[in-house]
Amino acid sequence: EKGGYDHFMLKEIYEQPRSIRDCLRGRIYPTEGLVQLGGIKDYIEKLKELDRIIIVACGTSWHAGLVGEYLIEEYARVPVEVEYASEFRYRNPIITPNDLVIAISQSGETADTMAAIELAKEMGATIFGICNVVGASIPRITHAGVYTHAGPEIGVASTKAFTAQVTILTLMAFYIAQQRGNITQSKFIEYLTELDKVPDLVEQTLKCNDTVKAIAERFKDSANCLFLGRGVSFPVALEGALKLKEISYIHAEGYPAAEMKHGPIALIDAEMPVVFIATKNSSYEKVISNIQEVKARGGKVIAIVSEGDVEVKEMADYVIEIPLTGETFVPLLATIPLQLLSYHIAVMRGCNVDQPRNLAKSVTVE
Ligand code: F6R
Repeated sequence: EKGGYDHFMLKEIYEQPRSIRDCLRGRIYPTEGLVQLGGIKDYIEKLKELDRIIIVACGTSWHAGLVGEYLIEEYARVPVEVEYASEFRYRNPIITPNDLVIAISQSGETADTMAAIELAKEMGATIFGICNVVGASIPRITHAGVYTHAGPEIGVASTKAFTAQVTILTLMAFYIAQQRGNITQSKFIEYLTELDKVPDLVEQTLKCNDTVKAIAERFKDSANCLFLGRGVSFPVALEGALKLKEISYIHAEGYPAAEMKHGPIALIDAEMPVVFIATKNSSYEKVISNIQEVKARGGKVIAIVSEGDVEVKEMADYVIEIPLTGETFVPLLATIPLQLLSYHIAVMRGCNVDQPRNLAKSVTVE
């Protein structure tokens, strides 16, 4: 049942080229410049008119929502807010019928996310779901939605469901942009063509496994770990930290790299591993300065870099190469080595990777 892998988590990490492909199948037609999202097609007028998008979710799904915020604002130019469902439901939020609420949930059963949906629905908003489990409770209470088609996720720590959620949000960002006339057809085709290549790029990214395993060996006894990224890689840093803490029980935190000097920098000493997402994108030079700040304080730098990188390689203690890609697609690739890092560290520490203590696969109580 684990398909020859030692754990479901590893199997699910390796399934990602396939799960992302399944997510895109029948939905994108790059040569025709066409996106078909059957589940939301009746709401095209709504997409054109809406004033704001509010994304509600918990945990890893909330991190996917943060990636969605960057991409939807960038391409569709619609203001997006990302809310923890548990906070949103209890703070008397301002919601109008011109809002679109997107609820993201792997299980489709998360109690807080369901309550957030009910509240927004009562206030007249349109609700879309992005769920993995077909026929679960959330898809039944939303107006429309898109399934992630990642297949059953057994490991409690979410891996392939996260990349599937990000894939759908990326597709939605392009789609909403097109519907609202914010993107030229030639750009649209270009982005779809890039997105279509992501499953192959994820396949290539998985080749980093041996490198990551060696890094895991070096840092498996760390007490703490920081994850830093900028822009669209900031939520990836949050997700890397969550994965490490939940399955290896190492205390980890994710931050926007520039926030480091506003506090967390005090934690850096020779025992502190700092994982940077330092791919060749718009914030590359800025991230390099942040790496220098860590190195100057004796921290150990593990950097995820683009293939062919020279500058970061000279500075970092350890590097993990991933294929060069446009910034938009970095989260789908950079997440992979972080999943593998937490997996290997957890296994080396003798942790129950698929069923970490105190955690449940679906959180049906608030
Ligand atoms: C982390 C993890 C949790 C879930 C969260 C929301 O690996 O799995 O943080 O992401 O409990 O669950 P769903 O997506 O089912 O609503």
